Amino acid sequence: MGKIDVHTHFVPKGWPDLAAQVGPGPWPWLRVDSEREAMIMVGSSEFRRIDPRCWEAEARLADMDADGVDLQVVSPTPVFFSYEAGPREAAKVARIFNDLALEVCSPARDRLLPFAQVPLQDTDAACAEVDRAMASGHVGVEIGNHVGDRDLDHEGIVTFLQHCADRGIPVLVHPWDMPDSPRLDRWMARWLTGMPAETHLSIIAMILGGVFDRVPPSLRICFAHGGGSFAFWLGRFENAWHQRPDLIGVSERPPSAYVDRFSVDSVVFDPAALRLLVDTLGAEQVMLGSDYPYPLGERPVGAVVERADFLTHAQKTAIRHGNARRFLAL
Ligand code: CO
Repeated sequence: MGKIDVHTHFVPKGWPDLAAQVGPGPWPWLRVDSEREAMIMVGSSEFRRIDPRCWEAEARLADMDADGVDLQVVSPTPVFFSYEAGPREAAKVARIFNDLALEVCSPARDRLLPFAQVPLQDTDAACAEVDRAMASGHVGVEIGNHVGDRDLDHEGIVTFLQHCADRGIPVLVHPWDMPDSPRLDRWMARWLTGMPAETHLSIIAMILGGVFDRVPPSLRICFAHGGGSFAFWLGRFENAWHQRPDLIGVSERPPSAYVDRFSVDSVVFDPAALRLLVDTLGAEQVMLGSDYPYPLGERPVGAVVERADFLTHAQKTAIRHGNARRFLAL
């Protein structure tokens, strides 16, 4: 039984003309530099150089075969979420990209499993689009970890999560739209410190905002990049919950009581970090993920799991594919 990679991204090859189809806006666009190279552009800024692995099933399958990966969850690239756009426009963008995701995955629908994006700034539109996407062949949804100043405990987002729980739709939470400061413009700091902090904050919002007290345990939700900084700082979080109950939120139980309510992926590179995740959350809560095909992703996919001598055979099997089978309801 091969690996299941729950964290990969796609970019469609046939780039839609969003201004023509949706209306004027600061849409991301693709600058095609050659047959096998393109640049994701945000306004006039170069965001990320990409290659056919983003849109070509054959290229993905070749890498999957090389790395022993049976199945990939194929998620949107977060820069396309468009949560800052008007709800109608964002719903159109989601529909366009979700249909293109099906095209990217269509040559190997038994191995490439598309996750949808939704206009999360509008709860009704987000619920409608995830239902439409699931009916058209998607198997889950990827959401950003916040919508502007709304965190995952915002009423509208909780309603969306409830909707996903009711329908058995797995949710992958991906950090995006990191804090804005010139201090973060250097050294990829937005990715190296901003993303782990964003994800940490999202898990805190779900715990302290009482979300896990309100949504049923049937909600299957996974946080990218090993849950960011969360596992390392759970002790500090736990202490604050006991020491400052006047400040710290509305969860019914201390933070450590909720660690079995969510999963994280394994793309932490260092076996010591993976060990911390397994010790803190349990091996059942960790799923193999790689962030393929981006530069901060792991190749070969799952290398950190293979290097983890402390894992039992059963734990490795669970992380390689068993936990993902439950997450994806395969
Ligand atoms: Co990613």
